[in-house]
Amino acid sequence: MGPLSAPPCTLHITWKELLLTASLLIFWNPPTTAQVTIEAQPAKVSEGKDVLLLVHNLPQNLTGYIWYKGQKTDHHLYITSYVIDTETIIFGPAYSGRETVYSNASLLIQNVTRKDTGSYTIEIIQRGDRTEGVTGHYTLYQETPKPSISSSNLNPREAVETVILSCDPDTQDASYRWRINGQSLRISRTLQLSKNNRTLTLFVVTKDTTGPYECEMKNPVSASRSDPVTLNLLYGPDVPRIFPSLIDYRSGQNLYLSCFADSNPPAEYTWTINGTFLQTGPRIYIPQITTKHSGLYRCSARNSATGSERSTLETIRVSGKWIPASLAIGL
Ligand SMILES: *[C@@H]1O[C@H](CO)[C@@H](O)[C@H](O)[C@H]1NC(C)=O
Ligand SMILES: *[C@@H]1O[C@H](CO)[C@@H](O)[C@H](O)[C@H]1NC(C)=O
Ligand SMILES: *[C@@H]1O[C@H](CO)[C@@H](O)[C@H](O)[C@H]1NC(C)=O
Ligand SMILES: *[C@@H]1O[C@H](CO)[C@@H](O)[C@H](O)[C@H]1NC(C)=O
Ligand SMILES: *[C@@H]1O[C@H](CO)[C@@H](O)[C@H](O)[C@H]1NC(C)=O
Repeated sequence: MGPLSAPPCTLHITWKELLLTASLLIFWNPPTTAQVTIEAQPAKVSEGKDVLLLVHNLPQNLTGYIWYKGQKTDHHLYITSYVIDTETIIFGPAYSGRETVYSNASLLIQNVTRKDTGSYTIEIIQRGDRTEGVTGHYTLYQETPKPSISSSNLNPREAVETVILSCDPDTQDASYRWRINGQSLRISRTLQLSKNNRTLTLFVVTKDTTGPYECEMKNPVSASRSDPVTLNLLYGPDVPRIFPSLIDYRSGQNLYLSCFADSNPPAEYTWTINGTFLQTGPRIYIPQITTKHSGLYRCSARNSATGSERSTLETIRVSGKWIPASLAIGL
C-alpha cells in the first residue's frame, strides 16, 4: 500500500501564537511487566511547532503499530501505521501530511494546529495468532490564554446597582477562580458565581467590594491570571464638614472656611449665608470681616453622578473690634 496524498489544508488559523499543551492518560489492557507510556516532547507546544509522541516500554515481538486520532481505534481516524517486517509506513484517512511514525513507534506531528488538540491512540499489534492491542491516549490541551475581566458596569452606584463580572474567554476544559484584593472570594448573599465560576454577580457594591478583582483560568496543564480590575464606585456625598470649627470671630479678622464631603466623583460645593447664595467651590475667603458677616453659613455638597446632595450649617458670630489685651486690661 502506498502513501495516500495529504488532504488539502483548509484550516483558518486566527490565533497567531496559539499554544498547545500536552498531557498524558494511559489505558493499559493486558497485564505486562512494564507499562507502555506515551510522553509528549516538548510538553508544551505552540502552534506551528512540532511535537513528538514518544512510546516507552514497547513489548517485544511486535508486527506493527497503528496510530489513531481520538480515544478509540476507529478506522476513520486511522492516521498512519508501521509494519515492522517490511519497514513499511501506511497512511490512513486521518493522515494530514504532517505525521511521521518511526520504527520505534513514536509519532512526530509537525507544525501542530489547533485541530491537533485531542487524544491519540496507539494500537500495538503483537506477533502470533492472538493479536493484542495496547492503546494509549494523549491529550493536547490548549495553554490557557491570559484572561481578561469584563464588567457590565465599571461605575456602579453604591449599594444600588448590580454588577456582572465575566472572565474571558469562555474556554471549555478550563476552570475559573476569582480573587478580590489578593484573597479568594468569600461567598455571601451579596454575590453569586455562575455554574462554572466564569461570571461573578455582585448584587451590592460597597467601598469594601470595589476590588481589585482578578480571575484565574486553569486547566490540567496550565493556569493564567488576568490583570486586576477595580470598580469605580459612585458614592456620596457624605455629610459635609466645615473647617475650622471655630465660630467666634472679631471684626477685622479674615474669615476662611473650607468644606469637605467624601464623594466619588468629588462633590460640587455651594455656600449660602442666611439662605442667600454666596459662591460655589469648597472654600470661602472674606477678608476683614465685620459684625455684618455674622450669620448662618451653609455648605452644600452635591454629587451629580449619584444625584444626592447634603449640607451642613455653621453659625458664625462676629463681635466688635478686637482690642489688644494690654489695653483691655487697662479699661
Ligand atoms: C524513537 O525514534 C525517534 C526518531 O528517530 C527518536 O527521536 C526517539 O528518541 C526514539 N525513541 C523513543 C523512545 O521513542
Ligand atoms: C504550518 O501550517 C500552516 C497552516 O496550517 C501553514 O500555513 C504553514 O505553511 C505550515 N508551515 C510548515 C513549515 O509546514
Ligand atoms: C516471537 O513470536 C514468535 C511467534 O509467536 C515466537 O516463536 C518467538 O519465540 C517469540 N519471540 C520472543 C522473543 O518472544
Ligand atoms: C467555583 O469556585 C468555588 C470557590 O470559589 C469552588 O469551591 C468550586 O469548586 C468552583 N466550581 C467550579 C465548577 O469550578
Ligand atoms: C445674617 O442674618 C443676621 C440676623 O438676621 C444678620 O445679623 C447678619 O448680618 C446676616 N448676615 C449677612 C452676611 O447677611
